[in-house]
Amino acid sequence: MKRLIRSVGGLILTVFALPVCGQTMSSPDGNLSVAFSLTEDGQPQYSLSYKGKEVVKPSKLGFRIKGAEGKDANWDDDMKTRKPDDLDIGFKVVSVDRDTVNETWVPVWGEESVITNNYNEMKVNLRQSDTKRDMSIDFRIFNDGLGFRYEFPMQKKLSYFVITDELTEFAMTGDHEAYWIPADYDTQEYDYTRSRLSEISGLMDQVNGPTYPWQHRPSPTGVQTALMLRTDDGIYMNLHEAALVNYPCMHLDLDEKNLVFKALLTPDPMGDMAYMQSDCVTPWRTIIVSDDARDILASRITLNLNEPCAIEDTSWIKPCKYVGVWWEMITRKGKWSYTNDYANIHLDKVDYTKSKPHGKHGATTENVKKYIDFASKHGFDAVLVEGWNTGWEDWSNKFKDEVFDFVTPYPDFDLPFLRDYAKEKGVKLIMHHETSSSIRNYERRMDEAYKFMKDNGYDAVKSGYVGRIIPAGSNHFSQWLVNHYLYAVKKAADYKIMVNAHEAVRPTGLCRTWPNLIGNESARGSEYQAFGGSKPSHTTILPFTRLIGGPMDYTPGLFENDLSKYNPKNKSWVNTTLTNQLSLYVTMSSPLQMAADLPETYEKFLDAFQFIKDVALDWDQSYYLEAEPMEYLTVARKAKGADEWFVGGTNGEAPRTAEVDFSFLPEGRKFVATIYRDGKDAHYKTNPQSYIIESKNVTAKSKIKIPEASGGGFAISIVPV
Ligand code: NOJ
Ligand code: CA
Repeated sequence: MKRLIRSVGGLILTVFALPVCGQTMSSPDGNLSVAFSLTEDGQPQYSLSYKGKEVVKPSKLGFRIKGAEGKDANWDDDMKTRKPDDLDIGFKVVSVDRDTVNETWVPVWGEESVITNNYNEMKVNLRQSDTKRDMSIDFRIFNDGLGFRYEFPMQKKLSYFVITDELTEFAMTGDHEAYWIPADYDTQEYDYTRSRLSEISGLMDQVNGPTYPWQHRPSPTGVQTALMLRTDDGIYMNLHEAALVNYPCMHLDLDEKNLVFKALLTPDPMGDMAYMQSDCVTPWRTIIVSDDARDILASRITLNLNEPCAIEDTSWIKPCKYVGVWWEMITRKGKWSYTNDYANIHLDKVDYTKSKPHGKHGATTENVKKYIDFASKHGFDAVLVEGWNTGWEDWSNKFKDEVFDFVTPYPDFDLPFLRDYAKEKGVKLIMHHETSSSIRNYERRMDEAYKFMKDNGYDAVKSGYVGRIIPAGSNHFSQWLVNHYLYAVKKAADYKIMVNAHEAVRPTGLCRTWPNLIGNESARGSEYQAFGGSKPSHTTILPFTRLIGGPMDYTPGLFENDLSKYNPKNKSWVNTTLTNQLSLYVTMSSPLQMAADLPETYEKFLDAFQFIKDVALDWDQSYYLEAEPMEYLTVARKAKGADEWFVGGTNGEAPRTAEVDFSFLPEGRKFVATIYRDGKDAHYKTNPQSYIIESKNVTAKSKIKIPEASGGGFAISIVPV
């Protein structure tokens, strides 16, 4: 809050007792314009235009609800009656509040050190005539897009209620190109497909992603957000949500005939969507729009629609570059568990003296010591250690409530020794909490687990939610789970702990409010390069989709493509060139970055590894130089508080030549650029480790052409002469 600088105070105008006529509002630069109106039967609707052209056709708004019909809103009575009772038609406009905000704020970390929040606001206050229920729809229009949400003021006639369906639509103006992954209530770990909207259902069965028996893909026409779109006349649009709090995650279901998307919420085991108590609000529904794809990457709408930082003292939140005992397990060279003999292991009486170790355990004292030495030698901040704690033998027991206790190390992991050794070497250890998706187990043990971390010098945790949610029947992205992930982050803040959650719901900008949420996975991470591979274009679409909501713990830095070298049984191939991996440290901005490969591999490529050592984690300014979704992007960034710049060029499948314009550099000064680029015959499949490192003098006037291979890319570090 302290950091908030509000430069122009809000001018609030209220217009009372309006007729059914429409209300419009334009963005500060006038390019975008939203129109609100009521249909003939009193249903709210909106449309959006960009530079005079319609980009979202009239789209309906509202809800199906139940449980709110009791006069005194007595919960039990309401639940018994269960009459369908909807918040869709019969509305009248009571008043409209208008406001303008133009302010800047300072994030704790991120792509820029000062963020502008400039929008016009129009809050339409509605009353449903026959039920006398009040609902407002708050529209905020920025130069780069629109956000709107529903608000329910405190009222007797709508105190407790259950949302059974959200009717929000996004009506498309044509059969656009879409970059999509299927709607799924449990995972986002899919490869992206690019197709026309009308082709989505036909391609559904061909998508590449996990297929667990408990996963729920609700609709053959459903897709996830952030959804990236491109119209035939070159307009880019991004549909997502901001500030997902106490509400289920939204997917989008397409009416293929009319090309209208409708909100598709994630249900609880009863089939209900959201349990509400007024006064309350929904998350913001966001539409980012531009005729230049680079503006989608530069948009700060998602952060701006979140609440300011809720943490008073943020001095303990620090960007972090780390290595880890991890890739060797993901490639199945080593194992998380200590023994195969899980039948003898029970949480209440852990007795490893009876079980025979299989000898492939990764988190041994000796191996972790090796990683600490490597991290210390190369200037990394931290070492992640997975498989340090008991319970992994029982991993397959997907119905067992208590698999992990988060405080008991395996007998071959000497925690006090490693704690002291890491401290001596100036390196932090990163805690790992695989929850096995046993939510209640984690919640009951959380205080003890966080306290154990603090007592042992850990200040960051990687958590994970692999497998079926326990208790069974819940979905990963339902309201209860959404609340759990935030509960874990807030509680961590009480202990001054940073969180990097894997398999949690995809981010929606909550890191503005809770900057100790330094990372999330929530997409197909680089681990899939060991599970059959991802498309070479994968990281050219993630910044337009997954990263719209916040940073990703993508875990780049894979230098060895042939994973059979680590484990003869692993036939997977890393589908990128080596310098493509380097580019990701810039294009996939995150305050948390891993060098994911094995130390012995980095030892073989120390010249290229130098870039990972040098690259910054936090930025004063970002410059989006070139971008086309699922094809390529080139991004330059200035390191926070330092006279250093880094450029990343990430390419997809088709070879191309990037044109780097150095005008982002300050004028009148001379710099040296170290360029790490694909070798002449580099190709992600046939020759991925071919690269060239060269130095060039550059100024703000320089323009350099850099060839990028198929699945390739480049990285540049720039310092003053
Ligand atoms: C899946 C996560 O994405 C991965 O990083 C982690 O190592 C495993 N779960 C085990 O927790
Ligand atoms: Ca994962």
